[in-house]
Amino acid sequence: MLDPESFDQDMASAAYMWPAELHSQFSTPQYPLVVDSGLSTSQLPQFARSSQPVLSNIDSLPNMSPPLHIEDQVDSVGHYPHEKGSTIPDPLSYSEHGRTFQAYKQHKYDLPNDAVEQDRLDLGHSLWRMVMNDTLHWAPVDKPSRVLDIGTGTGIWAIEFAELNPQAKVIGTDLSLIQPDMNGQLPNLEFIREDVEEEWTLEGPFDFVHLRLMFTCFNDHRSVMRKAYDSLRPGGWIEYQDSEVDYDSDDYSHRGTALHKWNFLIKAGAAARGRDIEVSRKYKEYLMQIGFVDVVEKKIKVPGNPWPAGRRRKEMGEIAEVISTEAVQAMSPKMLGDEGLGMSPDAVQQIVSLVQGNIHDQKIHITWPFYVVCGRKPFPDEVGQHPVVNRED
Ligand SMILES: C[S@@+](CC[C@H](N)C(=O)[O-])C[C@H]1O[C@@H](n2cnc3c(N)ncnc32)[C@H](O)[C@@H]1O
Repeated sequence: MLDPESFDQDMASAAYMWPAELHSQFSTPQYPLVVDSGLSTSQLPQFARSSQPVLSNIDSLPNMSPPLHIEDQVDSVGHYPHEKGSTIPDPLSYSEHGRTFQAYKQHKYDLPNDAVEQDRLDLGHSLWRMVMNDTLHWAPVDKPSRVLDIGTGTGIWAIEFAELNPQAKVIGTDLSLIQPDMNGQLPNLEFIREDVEEEWTLEGPFDFVHLRLMFTCFNDHRSVMRKAYDSLRPGGWIEYQDSEVDYDSDDYSHRGTALHKWNFLIKAGAAARGRDIEVSRKYKEYLMQIGFVDVVEKKIKVPGNPWPAGRRRKEMGEIAEVISTEAVQAMSPKMLGDEGLGMSPDAVQQIVSLVQGNIHDQKIHITWPFYVVCGRKPFPDEVGQHPVVNRED
């Protein structure tokens, strides 16, 4: 068992556990081996333990979304009828690293939009619903009229929300048009191609704005939040459901593994591309700065492979194992390779294989953070009554 107090030493000694060829690839003056993700060494122990207490204030929120009964959706452990294979190719795409990416706003987003990625997103949807107690949202939204799902992906969340809320007009936006044509079945649902970091063509006001797994996506998350604030009607809610590349373990069994180091490498790679992918832990503060009120955050530890004993957590771990294995492959080429840290394709592939091996290793008790953060746009008579309203910070 590693002593958490000697984490600095652990990080240094962990270097010796790398294969020599990776050692030389990593240890450049620009990107030293003990990976610099923008944190000073003295900050590393606190950062890497990252076992911040789970905030419980969201428990006071009424849970308005009806349960979706995941047990009906899961026929047995490991079999999720997410219609694998029913994927939609976007004609505006290009190929690189053996994968397909969106050509609209090329290089704006680092993950592919191909069938493998679409299946991964749909499988992820079953996991996030389980994590959220079989609901689609925790913000106390009741019978909304207009709902926006930013970065809708395959549109699976928007489709289910539109099904459950026939009174609502639901709009899903994305850089890729990979959503099914649901017009015949769900006339209250629309998908549009839009870069939400550009000026919005979307007509508000919205009652609910939802963003899930957008932590790698934006150059300026606060600018998107401000647009969402402006597009919401007073009293309307925003909800983030998001993760981070911050694999952890309560018993420190991930320490010194390739997975542990990949955490740091991928953050450095994203930073090299101008992206802060540790943003999920900052959403709460950002929302308050922008003027949202009743802001609450819940951090949930999701098992990263089926190591837990309990059936439900084991199922979560089974899905997490699949989607993480694919995410590591999907994220690494751009962030660690020529567009990020500049590592060679061979070195990237070697790390990916090592990390994937760690993800499958149930002796490593991986946990993966998932954040749910909600905030309400105040009514005009409430503005100014709250302590933190500084939109320019
Ligand atoms: C990780 S996926 C999440 C998809 C979906 N929200 C889900 O949870 O299944 C991120 C999505 O955001 C989209 N995206 C990235 N940057 C965007 C932008 N600037 N504007 C709109 N969509 C964006 C990507 O194309 C991708 O489909």
